[in-house]
Amino acid sequence: MSRELHLNLFINSRGHHEASWRHPDASDLALTDIHYLQGLTQRAEEGLFDSIFLADQLAFRGGGASLSLEPLTSLAALAVSTNNIGLIATASTTYTEPFNLARQFASLDHISNGRIGWNIVTSWSAPAARNYGYASQISHAERYARADEFMAVTRSLWDSWSDDAIIDDRANGKYLKQNSVREGGHEGTFYNVAGPLNVPRGPQGWPVLVQAGSSDTGRKFAAQHAEAVFTAHMEKSSAKAFYSDLKSLVKAEGRDEKQCLILPGLSPVIASTDAEAQQFRDELNNLADPQEGLISLSARFGGTDFSHLPLDTPLSPDDFPDPSTVEAARSRTEVILGVVRNERPTMRQLLSKLAGARGHYVVSGTPEHIADLIEDWFIDEVADGINLMPPVLPKMLDVFIDEVVPLLQRKGIFRTEYQGNTLRDHYGLDRPDNTFA
Ligand SMILES: Cc1cc2nc3c(=O)[nH]c(=O)nc-3n(C[C@H](O)[C@H](O)[C@H](O)COP(=O)(O)O)c2cc1C
Repeated sequence: MSRELHLNLFINSRGHHEASWRHPDASDLALTDIHYLQGLTQRAEEGLFDSIFLADQLAFRGGGASLSLEPLTSLAALAVSTNNIGLIATASTTYTEPFNLARQFASLDHISNGRIGWNIVTSWSAPAARNYGYASQISHAERYARADEFMAVTRSLWDSWSDDAIIDDRANGKYLKQNSVREGGHEGTFYNVAGPLNVPRGPQGWPVLVQAGSSDTGRKFAAQHAEAVFTAHMEKSSAKAFYSDLKSLVKAEGRDEKQCLILPGLSPVIASTDAEAQQFRDELNNLADPQEGLISLSARFGGTDFSHLPLDTPLSPDDFPDPSTVEAARSRTEVILGVVRNERPTMRQLLSKLAGARGHYVVSGTPEHIADLIEDWFIDEVADGINLMPPVLPKMLDVFIDEVVPLLQRKGIFRTEYQGNTLRDHYGLDRPDNTFA
């Protein structure tokens, strides 16, 4: 198999549909029960997925069932209850220190024997700022500037150990090889860190670096640092344009474009007939509460209040702030404005569209239809893989693994067994050279 499709399971609440938690097919387990995450991860491993991914917001989101366990501690529990699958957690460069994250991700990489990825975010949620001593959000531009320097520090800390530092020589009383740990410190605009790290370099050298911001600044950051990119699109055409733009930016940075995988989100409602799939989708939409949708929409725009807009009157782009002025989830506001511009939906219709997967691509149909769509995106350079966002968990994950994965395997684009042991092996990514020479 020359080029191989990658599958990541994005675990969110009891599914990605806003009302999934109320659906009779959704899990009965509490969202704070680690067996819930373990069960889903083990199931994804049975389906030979490359990885699972946990998102994170640093503020209470209110309403619905949007709570989750803290991702890094969760990954440790998932690492010891699985053997092959990659494990990706979100962590913020805005609200943590590089030394903390370098240490935690190096530890997790050891705990999992090299299966860890870090979804690097700058945290778009405005209320998070107030949980970390800021009166208001740091600007979009400054968050990315900090993130850039943050990456330089964490890389230097991971490379503060040579790969063969531990010799554990009991006879001669030497645990570490001489001169095998250097300071790896950093003095910059935002961070002063002495180093070295107090955890040896992990099996993968660094965790796989994942990124999920798609604004112009976000793309530049991804082109420089990311080895895998999650992105949200509601149309194939915009996902394809994003793919080609980001791959050119990666090349312009002097990097191999194959070393930066692009995984757009896909939320499939799968049933044996199109009519049944549509019925399942309607059931979910009927359970959704427009007031919940309004809260989420407002948060994406950094707190803009839309409650004065009538639910059943067609919207105009003028009802929304210009995305370039939004300090929160900028690229997602562009996706939402795109829908308003192209379709002129009412607020009720817009909220119903976003309820499916918050601005990611939602599709319903038979397993064959879903497998054909994934194959088309893979061949047509829209995606190197799919960030699977099942609308209801575990139900739609089970259906995907039982019905869609075998079709992808028959098409010859998806593995029939794991070939390597690390997340880098699954994603076909190089192990970073250690700059500790
Ligand atoms: C699939 C996906 C998952 C994301 N997960 C998180 C997350 O867990 N926490 C977060 O703060 N932002 C998350 N984001 C948002 C981005 O990291 C980014 O902050 C946001 O898109 C704003 O940056 P941008 O304007 O460059 O796009 C996610 C985005 C996508 C597409």
